[in-house]
Amino acid sequence: MRIKILPTAERVGAFAARQIHDGVTSGRIRVLGVATGSSPEPVYSALAARGLPRPETLTAFALDEYVGLPASHPQSYRSVIDREVTRPLGLDPSRVHIPDGTAADLELACTQYEGEIAAAGGIDLQLLGIGVDGHLGFNEPTSSLASRTRIKTLTRRTREDNARFFSSLDEVPLHCLTQGLGTILDAREALLVATGETKAPAVAAMVEGPLSAICPASVLQLHPKATVLLDPAAASALRQLDYYEMVEAHLPGWQR
Ligand code: F6R
Repeated sequence: MRIKILPTAERVGAFAARQIHDGVTSGRIRVLGVATGSSPEPVYSALAARGLPRPETLTAFALDEYVGLPASHPQSYRSVIDREVTRPLGLDPSRVHIPDGTAADLELACTQYEGEIAAAGGIDLQLLGIGVDGHLGFNEPTSSLASRTRIKTLTRRTREDNARFFSSLDEVPLHCLTQGLGTILDAREALLVATGETKAPAVAAMVEGPLSAICPASVLQLHPKATVLLDPAAASALRQLDYYEMVEAHLPGWQR
């Protein structure tokens, strides 16, 4: 893993956005894996401000979706991705794939999702956040490191964390569909962004801890091309600072 520590959360977003923009411009990224949550928001806003070349030709795959929320619900990941990614970046909605959490046969929906990723030629770059418990996508602790897209039960901790997007904890769905850790490992490139002190223990476990299903994000230790972008708060529990890159660079045109 390449670990880069940037001075602020805004620069983390700008750096990730530039990496995605460069990949799309060069043609290296034609299939982009997108994440939801707070961490990637600055990435999407920096990309939207700059604009992507020929965005309508880009294919996107979401990491996960809640089970049982209608697509029209403002917190379904279909709605969130539409609001934060598809429309601001000018993607073609028919090329934006989200697991179908309303399918009558959820297992079939998961198998079909894997098929859609394969039919698109695989994911070129998967953007990721990390949960405070070390989850990746919605692969909660003890998830198989080889798992594929499937139904998972959200932990109480994750539901509490995500309750900020709903009016109450009771409204947060109990289940989700998520790309598996094996699915995430198949992406040609992984780019994880983490900011804020609450993420520091999970980041330290992912980077400096053992490869273990108890910290699902540690699976990135097996990825041949994974980059982790951190602000100083998210990096604050790391101990092996000699191995990490401090990136001071100002990014003209990418930051306000
Ligand atoms: C989102 C996802 C989750 C989040 C993680 C961090 O699609 O799969 O793994 O990336 O829960 O969420 P935030 O960024 O809101 O702290």
